[in-house]
Amino acid sequence: MNNKVVVFESDKESAELIKTYIAEFNELELDNIYEDYKEGLFYTLKSHPHIVVISANDGIQAVQKTINILADNKINVIVLSQTYTTNLVIQALRAGAKDFISKPIIKKDFIASLNKCCKDIVRAVNKSNIISIFSNKGGIGKTAIATNLAVEFARQTREKVVLVDLNLPLGDVTTFINIKPSISIASAVETAAHKGAEAVVNACKQYKDTSLYVLAEPIYMEESQIMTPTHIFKLFEYLRESFSYILVDVGTSIDKMNMKILELSDLILLVSIVNLPLIRNCQRCLDLFSNLGFDENKTKIVINRYLENDEIKIEDVEKVLNQKIYWKIPNNYFTIMSSINKAMPVSEINENSNVTLSFSGLATKLTEDIIAKDFIEV
Ligand SMILES: Nc1ncnc2c1ncn2[C@@H]1O[C@H](COP(=O)(O)OP(=O)(O)OP(=O)(O)O)[C@@H](O)[C@H]1O
Ligand SMILES: [Mg+2]
Repeated sequence: MNNKVVVFESDKESAELIKTYIAEFNELELDNIYEDYKEGLFYTLKSHPHIVVISANDGIQAVQKTINILADNKINVIVLSQTYTTNLVIQALRAGAKDFISKPIIKKDFIASLNKCCKDIVRAVNKSNIISIFSNKGGIGKTAIATNLAVEFARQTREKVVLVDLNLPLGDVTTFINIKPSISIASAVETAAHKGAEAVVNACKQYKDTSLYVLAEPIYMEESQIMTPTHIFKLFEYLRESFSYILVDVGTSIDKMNMKILELSDLILLVSIVNLPLIRNCQRCLDLFSNLGFDENKTKIVINRYLENDEIKIEDVEKVLNQKIYWKIPNNYFTIMSSINKAMPVSEINENSNVTLSFSGLATKLTEDIIAKDFIEV
């Protein structure tokens, strides 16, 4: 890691303050301060510093493109802004910024932000989010949702995302997106017992040249028998060190393993289809989660294979479940089957299909809600 910081700041007083704070930070060195952002960008793309601190004095939109270019060049961007709203934070992070600080700059916040960039990994180590995709009935689209959502998370956030197949004993993530990992999840947790986090992270296989990684299902059914709830705890702990978003394709049984996975998750996407027996099942799951003491905001209901003109209306489902439906994914058998048969995400089959747009919308809504929650909790 090079230790240079370039600052884009048109306000002289603020520039002086930033200069003093950086000087107090041993690991980093101020390279240059630019009042003219265009000039700054030109220099930065040649010098390639570790961090750019950019002050959005004329609003986020005025610097969005610059943040975009810097992030594409793998430069950590810290945005400073006079105004602080959840929407602005979302815009800045979506453009590729690593952090967002409001002005007047508080030294502690600024140093924490520099530290975050030096960790060189994720948005905030403790802010890594585990999202489990669950249903207590099989065959209703968990894997289709988990895989397509994971691809979208990586594309939209550019952060490190891992898709973990914990649909034990026999998951099927690797058949949905063509990937051939050499080590399965079961072997990885076994090796991790001696070698620690590295064994787990090494077992995550990169999907094409994206920021998505996959931790694959056990190759043989009997392999999954070695896995215990304690393994799951350790596994998540290790993954949280390296990934911003951990998406888990969970099995259907209500057993100790799956309950541990759900307990440790930050969010549960409870998948259902609009038909009476499945809605009843969904209600049972919600009751169970409530009895287990899960926060009621933790579970989001996702309706799959949604049809506009269904006999049962969404409002009726919401009444029965006493909860709003978080997202609806349209029924599109042709595109989904074509994607499964070709082992490709739906976005590679047809980028404009209704299911592709729906997965993309779901990823956007989730990341925005997560970012909003994280920043409120800070
Ligand atoms: N949005 C959709 N529109 C149409 N068909 C869909 C949709 N989502 C899933 N399917 C169909 O449902 C089938 C099951 O999907 P998937 O394998 O993702 O379910 P699952 O819940 O992971 O199943 P399992 O419990 O076996 O792991 C797919 O083969 C596909 O035919
Ligand atoms: Mg599945």
